Amino acid sequence: MKRKFQKINQINGELVLTGDKSISHRAVIFSAMASGKSSIKNLSLGEDVKSTMKIMQQLGAKLTYENELIFVEGCGFKGFKKSVTELDCGNSGTSARLIAGLLAAQNFISTLIGDESLSKRPMKRVIEPFMKMGVEVLTNLNLTLPLTIIPGSNIQSIEYEMPVVSAQVKSSILIAGLHCDDETNVIENEQTRNHTEKMLGLPVKTENENIIASSSRKYYPEAKEYFVPGDISSAAFHIVLTLLTPNSELIIKDVSLNPTRTGFIDILKQMGANISFENVKVSSNEEYGNLIVKSSSLKNIKIESHIIPNIIDEIPILTIAGIFAVGDFVIENAKELRVKESDRIKSIYNNLKLLGLNVDESEDGFNVSGLIKNSNPIFESFGDHRIAMAFAVLSMLLDSGGEVNGFECVNISNPMFEEQISSIVS
Ligand code: S3P
Repeated sequence: MKRKFQKINQINGELVLTGDKSISHRAVIFSAMASGKSSIKNLSLGEDVKSTMKIMQQLGAKLTYENELIFVEGCGFKGFKKSVTELDCGNSGTSARLIAGLLAAQNFISTLIGDESLSKRPMKRVIEPFMKMGVEVLTNLNLTLPLTIIPGSNIQSIEYEMPVVSAQVKSSILIAGLHCDDETNVIENEQTRNHTEKMLGLPVKTENENIIASSSRKYYPEAKEYFVPGDISSAAFHIVLTLLTPNSELIIKDVSLNPTRTGFIDILKQMGANISFENVKVSSNEEYGNLIVKSSSLKNIKIESHIIPNIIDEIPILTIAGIFAVGDFVIENAKELRVKESDRIKSIYNNLKLLGLNVDESEDGFNVSGLIKNSNPIFESFGDHRIAMAFAVLSMLLDSGGEVNGFECVNISNPMFEEQISSIVS
C-alpha cells in the first residue's frame, strides 16, 4: 500500500497514545504466567503485541475484553500447556526472544516461527545462554527462526555477561531464571531498557560500571492490575513533526517516561528542542506523564555511544530531525541497527539518497549532510514500521509532500498513526 502525505502547515492539540509496545508485551506475558486474573488497561493495539497475546492463548492463558480492559486468566507456575501448533511471532522480535525464555523453562517442547523479516533476525543471542541453562535448541545453520526449544529436566540458573547489548536477550534470560530456585544474574555493559526488572521488581546493582539484574523463583509474577502508559517510541514521530512544523504546540498525555527510553528527548533538548514534562506519576514502577512540545530550531550535536541502546528505536526519526538541523547528523557505534525489522542503516541510506542528500554509510552507522534537492520522493518502508513512520513525517515536512511504499507495516506498532496525525493538524 502506497500512502501520499501532504505538507503540514501547523500542529496543535492533544494526543493520548495507546500503550507502550515493550511494556504491553511484558504485561501480557507476566499476566499469563501468574496464577489468577490480571487486568491490563491501555494495551498496545499493534500487531506485535497481538502475536504475544495469541501465543499466550495457545499456551493456555484465557484473554477476555471488557470495555477498555483486557483480562488475563494466567496459567500459574509451570502451568502452561503444550501447543498443538507452532507458535507464530509474526514480525515481533520481542515476542520471539521473551517467549523463548518462558518456553525454555516449561516441561514440553515448543517451536517458534516468524515472518520473513523475523526469520532473518539473529537468535544465537538467546540460544547460547539457553544452552548454558541446560536447554537444547534445534535451529538451522544461520541460527534463526524456526527454533524448537527442548527444555531439560531441570533448568539451571546462570551468571551471564551479555556479548550483545539487548534488552530482549536480558529479559529472555531473566524470565527463564524466574523458574530456578537459585539466582540467575545477567550482566550488561550498557544500560538497556529495564521494563522487565521494574515490572517484576527484580534486584539490580551496579558493579565496576556493569549493571547486574537478578531473577529467581521468588520474583515469579503474581496476578495484578496493569496500566500501560502511552508508547514513547510512537510519540517520537509526533514530537519531531511538531518541533519542525512552525507555530506548533502538542501535548502528549500519560506517555511512558522511563529514563531508559527517553534518551532521544535528552538529545533533542540538547539540539535546542522545546520539550517539557508535566504531571509525572508511577504505575507498576514505571514513570509516565505529559509531554509538552513546541516548534523549535535545531542544531546537530555529537551523539555519544553510551546512549545508543537507549535511542535504538528512535534513530530513524532522530535522523529526520537531524537533516533539518544545522550541521551534519552522525550516528556511530550502532551496529544493532543492522538487525532490526530491516537493516535500518541501509533503509535510511537508500531513502535519504532519493532526496539528493550526501549520505555515507559505515558498518555501525551513517552520516548525513547537504541540502534536500529532489522533490516528490517515493520512499520505501522496507516492511519496517519505524522506517515507514519516519519517512511519512519527512514527507509531511517537504513542500510538495512525499509518498511511502508499503505503509501498512505501521500496524506493527501503531495502527492509529494516520488518525492521530489528522487529529492534531490545524
Ligand atoms: C525491545 C528491545 C529492543 C528494541 C525493541 C523492543 C524490548 O530490542 O529495539 O523494539 O521490548 O525489549 P533489542 O533488545 O534487540 O535491542
